[in-house]
Amino acid sequence: MDLPMFYNEEDEWRKVMLMYDSALKEVNTKLEILNEEFKLNHQYNPIEHITSRIKSPQSIAKKMRHNGRELTVENIVKYINDVAGIRIICSFTSDIYRIADLIAKQSDVQVLKVKDYIMFPKPNGYTSYHMIISVPIYLSSTMVNVKVEIQIRTIAMDFWASLEHKIYYKFEGNAPERIRKELKECADIVSYLDHKMLTLNEEIKIYNHEDEI
Ligand code: GTP
Ligand code: MG
Repeated sequence: MDLPMFYNEEDEWRKVMLMYDSALKEVNTKLEILNEEFKLNHQYNPIEHITSRIKSPQSIAKKMRHNGRELTVENIVKYINDVAGIRIICSFTSDIYRIADLIAKQSDVQVLKVKDYIMFPKPNGYTSYHMIISVPIYLSSTMVNVKVEIQIRTIAMDFWASLEHKIYYKFEGNAPERIRKELKECADIVSYLDHKMLTLNEEIKIYNHEDEI
């Protein structure tokens, strides 16, 4: 996004944070609308729940240090994609792709990057669908495109990711081999469960349809 000129860095920081907060609101509203419309047409919620957060200044500073970049507002805006983050939790894997597609199709949304860790899971077993998008935010005298990271996953994938995150921090990224192996096994079970639940849900849909006839 192009930064307007500001008087000092503190004002600049506040303005940028307002932009990220506004971007979260915009995307949250888009998702609520899609979910409500879906509920109306199909009698169920593709979205189980949504969480969103603004990255803490400490985490931003840590990431900038890690990437070896000078900590300036301009660099944060340019190089950090997940200052504004939204996590969408779905019931079924099919809902993930449906939601991702509906977001991507909106004309004011620009998709900057996609990482499909469902089709291509990470070696540790992590699965989720990631998108970096940008949405326009209208201020009194300018329009700015603001980046938002969207993570879309099933309830089971989220359960796994939470435990993996906890373990990662507990062992500072060096979990014992046995624990890593068991986590990978859990990931395989998650994938099996998601597949089985989806199949079962598809089967039930057919029954409902027959009932209507
Ligand atoms: P960062 O990880 O944010 O620096 O960016 P990246 O370019 O590596 O992006 P990626 O899309 O791979 O990951 C973005 C986010 O997804 C991370 O910040 C985490 O929140 C989540 N994530 C990625 N990999 C894992 C993982 O192995 N375990 C868990 N629990 N979360 C992960
Ligand atoms: Mg991140």
